[in-house]
Amino acid sequence: MADKKIRQRVESLREQINAHNYAYYVLDNPEVTDSEYDRLLRELTELEQQYPELVTPDSPTQRVGAKPLSEFAEVQHEVPMLSLGNAFSEEDMIDFDRRVREVAGQKIIDYAAEPKLDGLAISLLYQDGVLVRAATRGDGHSGEDVTLNVRTIQAIPLKLRGRGYPPVLEVRGEVVMPKSGFEKLNQQQKEKGEKTFVNPRNAASGSLRQLDPRVTATRPLSFYSYGIGLIEGFAMPDTHSKMMQQLKEWGLRINPQSRVVQGVKGCMEYYQQLAKIRNDLPDEIDGIVYKVDNIALQEKLGFVSRAPRWAIAYKFPAQEEMTRLLAIDIQVGRTGALTPVARLEPVFVGGVTVSNATLHNQDEIDRLDVRIGDTVIVRRAGDVIPQIVSVVKSRRKGKPRRYHIPDKCPVCGSAAVRYDDEAVTYCTGGLYCEAQRKEAIKHFASRRAMNIDGLGDKLVEQLVDEGLVNHVDDLYKLTVGQLMQLERMGKKSAQNLVDALQQSKNTTLARFIFALGIHNVGETTAQTLASHFLTLDNLIKATEEELVAVPDIGPVVAQNVVTFFRQPHNREVIQQLIDAGIHWPAIKARKRDELPLAGKTFVVTGTLSSMGRNEAKAALQELGAKVSSSVSKKTDYVVVGENPGSKASKAEELGIEILEEAAFLELLKKYS
Ligand code: IVH
Repeated sequence: MADKKIRQRVESLREQINAHNYAYYVLDNPEVTDSEYDRLLRELTELEQQYPELVTPDSPTQRVGAKPLSEFAEVQHEVPMLSLGNAFSEEDMIDFDRRVREVAGQKIIDYAAEPKLDGLAISLLYQDGVLVRAATRGDGHSGEDVTLNVRTIQAIPLKLRGRGYPPVLEVRGEVVMPKSGFEKLNQQQKEKGEKTFVNPRNAASGSLRQLDPRVTATRPLSFYSYGIGLIEGFAMPDTHSKMMQQLKEWGLRINPQSRVVQGVKGCMEYYQQLAKIRNDLPDEIDGIVYKVDNIALQEKLGFVSRAPRWAIAYKFPAQEEMTRLLAIDIQVGRTGALTPVARLEPVFVGGVTVSNATLHNQDEIDRLDVRIGDTVIVRRAGDVIPQIVSVVKSRRKGKPRRYHIPDKCPVCGSAAVRYDDEAVTYCTGGLYCEAQRKEAIKHFASRRAMNIDGLGDKLVEQLVDEGLVNHVDDLYKLTVGQLMQLERMGKKSAQNLVDALQQSKNTTLARFIFALGIHNVGETTAQTLASHFLTLDNLIKATEEELVAVPDIGPVVAQNVVTFFRQPHNREVIQQLIDAGIHWPAIKARKRDELPLAGKTFVVTGTLSSMGRNEAKAALQELGAKVSSSVSKKTDYVVVGENPGSKASKAEELGIEILEEAAFLELLKKYS
């Protein structure tokens, strides 16, 4: 049997936990860390296990029931749960206010303004401060008993705070799923291969209508109160806003954005203010609800059919609408990525007319299973690019075919491929494709590629826009006369550029390979390919198997290289470049073990001023050295740049030879 001390401890733990919940959910001002909270809850759970006679239904440990239901029971609402009239414009608001003023005989009305949360309405019945029943709105007169599920929502108190609450209190409010929780839940659903939810409202409603409360307990649901239904044995305050403050004191969460505003002018200001921050709020909202604050006036105004005359919902422009998918076009980005774009029957959504939406990539098309002609739900939130959220399958007509991104670039006709580990499909005609023209030329001219002095990004744009250069080989046909026609280009600069172009023709095979801009072939890989294949011809002819056999070349790079050189257009441009006089010194075929640094292991650490770490590695590898990432007894040299860190000290400890940058450069010069 539990003695008095244990009873007191259990009581104190419950009080502490409830107080922390209140601080967190209602006051939005957490007082303890999660771990401290968990510790209290664990202690309480253990005591209750030891002394089951101390368990009460409103104990914070009793949120999740054990057994799933077979169905929900029906609940009659004694006070019907009404809906709201809508306003869509300032005129609608002016009309509403005029009707209120006529009944009130007053010039300026106080309105309680609250966000209209996009969740589902719920009724919570507290008897003597204890949550005894929770029900959905249903048709307004009868709903479903979802008490067991609602008990799992942490923001809803199982027991009211303090003492002054009425013996019977029915609180009404909205169960919502915060946007962050919604994203997380969908992520998890995706990972489990289960159905994702279209929006937070559907997710909230689906989660609350689970027959197994243990499932609901895992869903990130939240709650805000916005009014009362049945109330007995309590003298009502004279305004709605005071009633809301009262609920807050009893431990119920109310929306922190709620305000009392004056007249239509106040309503409009509040509306603008919230429209601006709408996307940054934690919960999805679809408008503002204005309620006459004065309760006596509310009673005087009464109801029309199923909605109060004292309240109105001023809707924001919808962020989701239905429309038809007319076609899917492919856009080729400047880096060659093929992006499918949905062409839509124009629809007004999120405040603008939308006729295109991105479809991202093939995975997204497959996930949505979207087909041409489908009715789709389009979403545009704030300044975010419009998205297709889902397909309304019930409206699909006939049997449209699945859509596949084409295997040819729609701009240049080169092969479009998707590599195994990527979501994106790329055009492989990098040197030729009009969409990639500017980027390809910029890369080709850059310092670490062909190093064409004076040919910066701006000038490349100008040359392409003026039609002087279409492909990289055109660069070598430029004349001083042509260049001088460009804006802000004097004779001297034009001559300098022609000279720089001439100079760039003398390069290395590695630089040339890098300059081609093959997807996934960076400087290091280019270096590796050059030292292995020795000539451009060998590389062009290499098969995927031969490429994969090269150390450090994986299947993706191998596939990239082969596809790139297989494109006739790329080969034409390369031939033109060679014909223009680009050349490099022949690389002597040396067996690996004849290379000057064969058998030596290097570690490179710290920042080098003359080259990047990858470049340094590649240079060493080209000379036959092995480059490792950690220092051990087997290390022969450690190359040390600025701010080297622990590897340098370890080398010292082990007595390994340290090369500072100058000595390292000297070594490279000696052997290359
Ligand atoms: S008051 C008689 N306030 O909107 C007034 N409703 O269209 C009853 N809603 O079913 C509702 N946020 O689910 C009120 N701050 C808010 C609200 C709100 C969302 C929902 C509620 C109701 C629907 C009415």
